[in-house]
Amino acid sequence: MPSPIVELDLDDWGATPEARPEWTAAVEAGKVLWFPRLAFAVRPDERALLRENMLAPKSRNVSLSADGVLKGAGGDGAEQASLAAMVGRFRAQALALVDALFPAYRGALTAAPTSFRPRRVETRRQSVRADDRRMHVDAFPSRPNYGERILRVFANINPEGAPRVWRVGGDFESVARHFLPGAKPYRAWQARALQALHVTKSLRSEYDHLMLQLHDRMKYDERWQQQGEQWRVPFAAGSCWVCYSDQAVHAVMEGQYMMEQTLYLPPGREANPAASPLQILTRLVGRPLAGVGAGVAR
Ligand SMILES: [Fe+2]
Repeated sequence: MPSPIVELDLDDWGATPEARPEWTAAVEAGKVLWFPRLAFAVRPDERALLRENMLAPKSRNVSLSADGVLKGAGGDGAEQASLAAMVGRFRAQALALVDALFPAYRGALTAAPTSFRPRRVETRRQSVRADDRRMHVDAFPSRPNYGERILRVFANINPEGAPRVWRVGGDFESVARHFLPGAKPYRAWQARALQALHVTKSLRSEYDHLMLQLHDRMKYDERWQQQGEQWRVPFAAGSCWVCYSDQAVHAVMEGQYMMEQTLYLPPGREANPAASPLQILTRLVGRPLAGVGAGVAR
């Protein structure tokens, strides 16, 4: 497979040139769009916010909701207000970038809270299933999404110039073909039990079940983690990148201080829905996988 990274030469968040259909096609093919010269500008007075204890104890990330509520932040009140302003500025720029890059999605996207991630990736200790240094596709155990797409914008804002290093894997369909044969079969009664026990916020569909199986089977396969098709990609400080994290196989190996914005796209609203994980898995399994009319609980 050719490299999964597509470099784009934009350097100004507000001056995106006329969108090209191939950008949407690339991101929908599971590629990572990388903007090496598009930096999120941290202002001099914001530099002091780039420290690990701007994260509250026990929080994984700082998040800012659409209505401006900041969660998970350390620091004092004034610092939290500055942090909210900085994260909010990234949110506005990320949403504008996505709007300019993918005009086909206009009116269909829902923005999640924006996150600031000040923790160093290398020293994080986690279980195999939670360890994002193992290649995976994103899938949520508690929040079934029925094929809703997870589009993410990332910016490396490391003040010392440290890259954010990812490993990016082979294309989704090849990886799915590799791992699907050993996946546990979906059981509707188990899905109902998980919902009754509030393990899931709504009924887990067969699509959600298979995505979690892929996520877990990838992470637990030591040999595939080492020998599976992959590219090591150092995303430089002062760059940003965009991908569908439910489709682009990825692992986060190194780095500290990042901004991230997630947007959700309803299934079927892609320019080419046939390239989506839902339709790929549906074809591979040979029957419909997502509950009809099911809603996503947030
Ligand atoms: Fe991930």
